[in-house]
Amino acid sequence: MTLKYTWYGHGTFGLDLDGTKIVIDPFFEGNPAASTTLDKLEADFIWVSHGHGDHIADAGPLHKQTGAQVITNAEIAGWLGKQGVETHAQHIGGGFQHPFGHLKFTYAQHGSGLPDGSDGGNPVGFLLTTADNKKVYFACDTGLFGDMALIGESSLDLAVLPIGDNFTMGPDDAVRAAQLLKPKHVIPAHYNTWGLIEQDAMAWAQRIEAETDAKAHVLQPGDTFDI
Ligand code: NI
Ligand code: MN
Repeated sequence: MTLKYTWYGHGTFGLDLDGTKIVIDPFFEGNPAASTTLDKLEADFIWVSHGHGDHIADAGPLHKQTGAQVITNAEIAGWLGKQGVETHAQHIGGGFQHPFGHLKFTYAQHGSGLPDGSDGGNPVGFLLTTADNKKVYFACDTGLFGDMALIGESSLDLAVLPIGDNFTMGPDDAVRAAQLLKPKHVIPAHYNTWGLIEQDAMAWAQRIEAETDAKAHVLQPGDTFDI
C-alpha cells in the first residue's frame, strides 16, 4: 500500500493512503505558511489534535466542503457536533480501527482551549498503524515528555515533531524526543510560520543525523514524503 505525507505548512498535515485522504489540524485561512487553500483540498477524514485556532480553524469549513468525518477528542467532538459537524470521538490511550487503519490517541503536554473559550479537553498526539503495519506518530503540539520512550517501543517508521519552540518543543528537546521515539525517519513541523517560532531546520536535521539513528527530512510547505 502507498502512504504519502504532505506538509501544508505550520502544524497542518496530509496523509494519502492508497487514495484515502486525511487532513490533520486544518489551518489554511490566516496561516501565513499555508501551501494551498481550503477550496483545493479533498478530505475523507479530518483529525484534530487540540482546540487551538491554529489547529482547528478550518475543521468545520473542510467538513462542510467535503463531508469528511472529524476524528478528535470527546470535548472537541461535542463542540463541533453542536455546529453540525460529523465526528468520531476518541481519547488518550484509546485506539480504533478506522477504514484507513488503526488510530490511537496519545498523550501530549500542551493546552486545548477552543477559540470561543470552551473547554477543549486534553490535547492529543496521533499514532497511526496501517494495514501493512507502517507506524506514523504525530506529536502535534507538545513539550518533551519521558513517555515518548513508550511510544518509541512500537518501531515507528516516521515521527513528525514540532521544533518551533515558544509554544512547543524547540530544537534541543525535539532531538531528545527523537532519541526516545527511535523513528526510522523524522520530519520537523510547527516552525517558521511566524517570527516567534523561526528555526534553522537544516541545522536541526544535522543534529538528528549526528545524535540519533533517525534520518531527518526537511520539507518546504507543499512538499510530500513517501513513507
Ligand atoms: Ni496549540
Ligand atoms: Mn499550534
